[in-house]
Amino acid sequence: MTNQERVQNLKERRVKMLKGGGEDRIKAQHEKGKLSARERIDKILDEGSFVEHQSYVTVRATTFGMDKKRFMGDGVVTGSGKIGGKQVFLSSQDFTVLGGSLGEMHALRIAEAQELALKNGTPFIGINDSGGARIQEGTLSLDGYAKIFRNNTFASGVIPQLSVILGPCAGGAVYSPGITDFVFMVDGTSHMYITGPAVIETVTSEIISHEDLGGASAHCSKSGVAHFRFSTEKECFSFVGKLLSYLPSNNMEQPPIADTGDPADRENPDLFSILPDEERKTYDIKDIIAEVFDRGSFLEVHADFARNIVVGFAKLNGRTVGIFANQPNYYAAALDIDSSDKAARFLRFCDSFNVPIISLVDVPGFLPGIAQEHGGIIRHGAKVLYAIAEATVPKISLILRKAYGGAYIAMSSKALGYDRTIAWPTAQVAVMGAEGAANIIFRRDIKGADNPEEKRVEKIEEFKETVMNPFIAAGFGYIDEIIDPKYTRIELIRSLEMNMRKREDRPAKKHGNIPL
Ligand code: HXC
Repeated sequence: MTNQERVQNLKERRVKMLKGGGEDRIKAQHEKGKLSARERIDKILDEGSFVEHQSYVTVRATTFGMDKKRFMGDGVVTGSGKIGGKQVFLSSQDFTVLGGSLGEMHALRIAEAQELALKNGTPFIGINDSGGARIQEGTLSLDGYAKIFRNNTFASGVIPQLSVILGPCAGGAVYSPGITDFVFMVDGTSHMYITGPAVIETVTSEIISHEDLGGASAHCSKSGVAHFRFSTEKECFSFVGKLLSYLPSNNMEQPPIADTGDPADRENPDLFSILPDEERKTYDIKDIIAEVFDRGSFLEVHADFARNIVVGFAKLNGRTVGIFANQPNYYAAALDIDSSDKAARFLRFCDSFNVPIISLVDVPGFLPGIAQEHGGIIRHGAKVLYAIAEATVPKISLILRKAYGGAYIAMSSKALGYDRTIAWPTAQVAVMGAEGAANIIFRRDIKGADNPEEKRVEKIEEFKETVMNPFIAAGFGYIDEIIDPKYTRIELIRSLEMNMRKREDRPAKKHGNIPL
């Protein structure tokens, strides 16, 4: 072969490689409203930034005719590139090649990209579109998954890991996304489950569609497995870039500081028009967030799951912060099993990646009920306490109204580790609400009174004035400052800036044993 012929041969191989499983299969992919693996990479990365790795890798297994099913790249495209100028490593499974199924060499490519991301300290993005373990390759395929899970675990807390589900993700394949930090899904396209509808029908006689069982809606609102839901792949990709713009590339870096153009001395004169005078009335905590943090910067995580707690990233004077807020207009904000899991996982992400935590508190406590007790609210609620106590990032708490019981401890207590707790004059800090408290500690007074109902109301008021008011807690030093709400933004920025150099150690240990 002449040198020129060798170059021609290379070109032909490349053309073939770019076609994955062939034009017909790419067309079928498009007909399902899905992009091909390479088109997805082009859409997610900055133009022209993709550098492919191991593109000639092909199958080694010979079992069940695999030696006759050799595709360059083995059903996955991996490499590195930039998103908004930030270096990332990524993999994109190619459904047109053997249904994107994961065999030995396919897994090796993903694992190599993960390892390069870890060595270079960059985020890793896994785009999933696969029939799962490649049946013909048996244990080669299973051990391939094992390597990926191990890499996911080693990278956890070191680099941000995002999983974008854009097709089937079934069986054990779900556990790589399950270990990663954030899972993205698209309506009608993404399906995640351990066992699909057919197996479920055989085993339990339950009948359910792929979408209802494992679609974006199911996982973003019911199971909590996924964090972000979109209607199109395009929207999903642009949000990946937005999320990354709030995060550092790894745990040794600080999150980027943005110029949001929102003045640090902006007052918030309208906050009391959001918080109703009547205690029993609810309001939307997101209206408070929108007013206080840098305009338009709130990026909610897990928006449709466990809506009694709101978590997400925002900018405060250009700095990324993690917000952990009660939502009074959903279950009166009471903390339950799902909201505890949601909060604890988010808080631990923030702590891993140097994102300061700000809690906004208006919570009556943990949700009472047999289902909650037997579902393990003790075990789940404990995660929030653990996550806050172990976090070494700056932790600031703002009490708006109710801060009762264990929920006060989790969300505001300086003894648990908050660096600064501030309160509005409307704050109520107590072991429990005034009515419950009066019925216990003034029971005899109320029972023995000429007019028990009048006495009860009198005692409730007395309790509110003497025990719950924030000046009592401030007098003990548990609240640092009680502020006019119009200075909320200014005060939160000051609290954040004063704690940004914080250094705190923890006792040396192999790792803690967070209640799971
Ligand atoms: C090998 C596979 C495959 C797999 C699909 N294909 N899944 N090949 N191993 N796991 C092949 C098909 O044979 C077909 O090849 C091509 O990919 C496209 O698949 P279709 O079935 O035609 O596509 P579609 O109708 O869109 O259905 C997609 C699907 C279905 C829902 C994903 O293929 C399916 O149910 N596959 C099996 C899913 C599964 O049970 N996987 C194992 C999970 S257990 P041809 O050449 O005919 O077009 C698991 C264990 C991991 O993953 C454990 C890790 C710890």
